[in-house]
Amino acid sequence: MRRPLVMGNWKMNGRRCTAQSLLSAVAAEAATFSDVDVVVCPPHVYLGLVGDRLGGCPSIACGAQDVSAYVDGAYTGEVSAEMARDMGCEFAIIGHSERRTLFGETDGVVAQKFARALAADMTPVLCVGETAEERDAGRTREVVLRQIDAVFATCGARAFARAVVAYEPVWAIGTGRAASPDEAQAVHRDIRDAVARHDPEAAAGLRILYGGSVKAQNARELFARADIDGGLIGGASLIADDFVGICRAAG
Ligand code: G3H
Repeated sequence: MRRPLVMGNWKMNGRRCTAQSLLSAVAAEAATFSDVDVVVCPPHVYLGLVGDRLGGCPSIACGAQDVSAYVDGAYTGEVSAEMARDMGCEFAIIGHSERRTLFGETDGVVAQKFARALAADMTPVLCVGETAEERDAGRTREVVLRQIDAVFATCGARAFARAVVAYEPVWAIGTGRAASPDEAQAVHRDIRDAVARHDPEAAAGLRILYGGSVKAQNARELFARADIDGGLIGGASLIADDFVGICRAAG
């Protein structure tokens, strides 16, 4: 059985004081969702603060929102996977659609970052998903599988032996319009089948998260589907009660 996973992606939000109060509120409820893995992904500058706070709450792990495609060196402004791991990150979000669309990350760059996360002993969380235009053109499966295949091409047939995939339809992110459970389940199934063609063992154990306007109200129905193993949560991860509600829905 795959253990559910809920990840909070804070994106570029918060300050020290809000990070501390949010973590305290979530940590206080951690005992009530013990059948789920919970990860928070703060902005890089707050990784130390979050790591210190989570030291007293082993049931919540820390993740990076991104890592560099490069190893340490002269890359001003970048944060390497090794640095994120050194700060206690066990997970790294890779290829979020905001990185792909706003910062020009290609499938090739995303695959390099995925490889860096693995090399640094972190679990990469590969984000895949189609835009509204691609969906309207009936290209969802093609786009998502292309994004998965780029990682296989760079990292080899066992790329997903230690990884997570997050299906995040771009049109659902921050819009309040989540994919329906049936719609998400169909894409999750396609992803698992695609991974199975290279690595059946990894596919069976692969946690595939859904992301895009997940709230406490719709989480349970989404997570009940056979191939939806949890969520990658944006806006609702900034509100303690909402995030706790989603974690409970998964556990
Ligand atoms: O990383 C999280 C996703 O982009 C989902 O964001 O929950 O605000 O729609 P959202």
